Amino acid sequence: MSNQNRRIAFLQEMGLGPVWSQRAAMLQTLEPEVASLSEVVEPVAVSATATAPLRVAEPSASAWGDDDLVSTPAAVPVAPTALVQPATNIGSMNWDQLKAVVSNCTECGLCKGRTQTVFGVGDQKARWLFVGEGPGRNEDFQGEPFVGPAGKLLDNMFVAMGLKRGENTYIANTVKCRPTDENKRDRAPVAAESDACMPYLQRQIELINPSVIVALGKTAALSLLKLDPATPVARLRGTVHRYTDIPVVVTYHPAYLLRAPKEKSKAWADLCLAMQTYADKANG
Ligand code: URA
Repeated sequence: MSNQNRRIAFLQEMGLGPVWSQRAAMLQTLEPEVASLSEVVEPVAVSATATAPLRVAEPSASAWGDDDLVSTPAAVPVAPTALVQPATNIGSMNWDQLKAVVSNCTECGLCKGRTQTVFGVGDQKARWLFVGEGPGRNEDFQGEPFVGPAGKLLDNMFVAMGLKRGENTYIANTVKCRPTDENKRDRAPVAAESDACMPYLQRQIELINPSVIVALGKTAALSLLKLDPATPVARLRGTVHRYTDIPVVVTYHPAYLLRAPKEKSKAWADLCLAMQTYADKANG
């Protein structure tokens, strides 16, 4: 399968099939296995090859709301545990030191329910950093971010962007331990949990020094941009923000996109904005 055909196949899997009535013609040009893999998707008004920044129409607040969170149940308030021997020198740690501290962290109550911490994965010199919310069940079990169904979609988003997990990409989460509710179901971290974990993400960002950060969903966006939780997150899309001096593009969380596939075209617009931002930076 050629790279172009693979890219088209993954765009289709994202729900971003060819635009206009050329879809059928385009499918005919694909290698047979690509065409057979493609599912029937609704055409959307986004060019699969566009790299120019797309100014997306501002969605209604309900397009984000709580729907972009990973977990279906509402976040339950969890009191942060008292700080236990806080690591004060995180800002000067190297990768190995940081990993060791994270794996033993007891800064918040999430440590009690974890199988293991999920530090992050990828190229430590990556130009692209993707930040999610927190580990779910699969990630807690495997120790790697985005290994479940949302991770499969994220990998497909990478391919659509011409990227690959582990190559010039790094994936981190806002919190490194799996948040669960009283029924052991995945939930979003509460602000105190995100805040407790933020020094680790901060150090990861310093060590990587990426060209562009893509915030996947509300939790990552609010934590990175230090915004009030009441901020209507819908307004964060379509604009390039800054974390220190690093551009941040906000898009939907892949888990939300699995629940709301019609929003994939907006996510693609966000990724196009991220790609344009990356190219602008590379071109000085
Ligand atoms: N969702 C996230 O935000 N992170 C993961 O690692 C998995 C699912």
